[in-house]
Amino acid sequence: MEKLDTGRLPKHIAIIMDGNGRWAKEQGQDRLFGHYHGVVSVRKVVEAATEIGIQYLTLYAFSTENWDRPQEEVSGLMTLFVDTIAKEVPDLHKNNIKLQFIGNLQMLPKEAQEALSNAAQKTAQNTGLNLIIALSYSSRWELVEATKIIAQKVQNGQMALDEITEATISQNLTTKDFPDPELMIRTSGECRISNFLLYQLAYAELYFTDTLWPAFRKEDLVKALMEYQSRERRFGKTSEQVQTN
Ligand code: FPP
Repeated sequence: MEKLDTGRLPKHIAIIMDGNGRWAKEQGQDRLFGHYHGVVSVRKVVEAATEIGIQYLTLYAFSTENWDRPQEEVSGLMTLFVDTIAKEVPDLHKNNIKLQFIGNLQMLPKEAQEALSNAAQKTAQNTGLNLIIALSYSSRWELVEATKIIAQKVQNGQMALDEITEATISQNLTTKDFPDPELMIRTSGECRISNFLLYQLAYAELYFTDTLWPAFRKEDLVKALMEYQSRERRFGKTSEQVQTN
């Protein structure tokens, strides 16, 4: 950790937590066993991100597409989310962490919606790490919703067509209160974005590791940050321009 340049840390890290099922299979267990162990990794990564001084951490916990998984797995995951959130909120609050949720939350069972809403309210005034959990989230869903809001404003005469800019889109996404992630990590060796923050990741550095999510620990996060700091972020400019700046 001492090797990290604290002046060049990303403000926002986004993570696709993948590989719970494969990890469980390796242990001869069922998929939910993997998800339960995935929660241990969430805790470790949240602790590490706080310690390192990351300001925003977004975790992809459940995609819109995940609703199509076997019913038993979906309901097991919902129970896991509700129980984990209820159990962890006091500790998150004590550590000044602000918990927020993005996604089509209306699709969640009522009990889960209440648990999320209580957790977000309880931690709303905290000023430390912003922990954002993407639940029933997909980027295309989010872009469709944003488009509808903007189109409605144009239709109502509240906004002119020419006034639509890139910022208009950003301001109507579920992530409007957060800066774009500079680093996106995906575990388990899959090299895809899978409908996650498509607009927001435009200039993010992508980091893929073979480590399965339940095995992911602080050292793996530090490794991703080391790799991030070794990259030159050019935003479409030349290397010479970036180095002069
Ligand atoms: C992807 O692995 C993982 C998920 C769909 C669930 C992730 C959820 C957690 C880690 C629990 C987090 C809990 C909270 C409260 C944030 P996979 O099942 O697709 O694994 P596979 O690709 O190996 O089958």
